[in-house]
Amino acid sequence: MKTLLSAETIAQRVRELGKDISESYGDTPFIMLVILKGSFIFAADIARAITAPNFTMDFVRLSSYAGTSSTGKVAIHNDDVERLKGSKILIVEDIVDTGNTLVWFKEYLNQNGVTDVKICSLLEKSSVHQNRITIDFCGFDIPDKFVVGYGLDVDGKLRQLPYIAEYKGES
Ligand code: PRP
Repeated sequence: MKTLLSAETIAQRVRELGKDISESYGDTPFIMLVILKGSFIFAADIARAITAPNFTMDFVRLSSYAGTSSTGKVAIHNDDVERLKGSKILIVEDIVDTGNTLVWFKEYLNQNGVTDVKICSLLEKSSVHQNRITIDFCGFDIPDKFVVGYGLDVDGKLRQLPYIAEYKGES
């Protein structure tokens, strides 16, 4: 597999994002809402890179991928969003690819009265989502390749890689 982003490159960018987020929120309370499963490693690192003191962490599981293709249909696995109402929300994602997941989820939150929402994504493919969604804090804009590692999977595997690599179907 070809390494796209090394562990060191990711760590450096995560530190910068943590600083940006800290400066943006200051002392204002917010909820970091981690989108499982893919974001769990990024979330653990970005949480520790944020020095702003007043945030809590919450989790929701969304899924739309089977193998290397998006099914186009987003599923939510914990839909109790009452707890988020009235709070500032910072969504933490590993990747915005087509944008389907976050377009759907932002609309879902909106319809349930959760309106103050920002997005932090480690990766985005701007050439694919074409500004369907605004990412407030983005780590890297990557080409339209299927990537694995640092939380990103292929059929549940390879999430544990400490770097991000291009996956070309090899085992
Ligand atoms: C991945 C990723 C994002 C979404 C991005 O989730 O974690 O949530 O796809 O793709 P999109 O912009 O094209 O919607 P996936 O459905 O693979 O679930 P997982 O995080 O549990 O692996």
